[in-house]
Amino acid sequence: MVKNKACVFISGSGTNLRSIIKNSRDYNFPINISLVISNKKNAAGIYFAKKFAIPFIVLDVSREKFEKMALKELLNRKIKLLCLAGFMKILSKSFIRKFKGKIINIHPSLLPKYKGLNTFKRVLNAGEKITGCTVHLVNEKLDDGKIIVKKRVAISASDNPEKLKKKVQSEEYKAYSIAIRKMYNFS
Ligand code: GAR
Repeated sequence: MVKNKACVFISGSGTNLRSIIKNSRDYNFPINISLVISNKKNAAGIYFAKKFAIPFIVLDVSREKFEKMALKELLNRKIKLLCLAGFMKILSKSFIRKFKGKIINIHPSLLPKYKGLNTFKRVLNAGEKITGCTVHLVNEKLDDGKIIVKKRVAISASDNPEKLKKKVQSEEYKAYSIAIRKMYNFS
């Protein structure tokens, strides 16, 4: 099958990147990761791009420069889907408009609840019994946009932010894979 070219933007440990790369190696997965861009020069996730021989670029610069250079690469390489995976920079409205409907993001809560940062701590402080993760289309508002997939995670009394993060992230890997398949109407 002809796979769609995708790019993953990261800022940190890149465990979602690793999972997407592994899934993309399946013949029946609708995308191929053609490029990884990190906005942090020390992002641990760059290791996975190297390990799996995927072209990567580090753009540890201002947002304006980042977006100008990233956009050029996305167009030159004919990227059809942009996956944000632990990408902690807020993209400008004009960048999002240029890639409208083709940017997806993963967020570690059941959106629309707990947008923004420190989700695990806030979820625990609020005494929630259930949390999870959401993959959504990116629009011009923070952690907004059409929801593609949500996965729920039960919170136990012994959970702390670190334990909860582990539980949620293991669901994130599944959620991202399902969401990418859904983007291309694959079951
Ligand atoms: C993930 O848990 C993701 O949901 C979160 O950052 C983590 C990145 O982990 N994203 C956000 O908080 C975005 N608002 P990873 O680098 O190991 O994939």
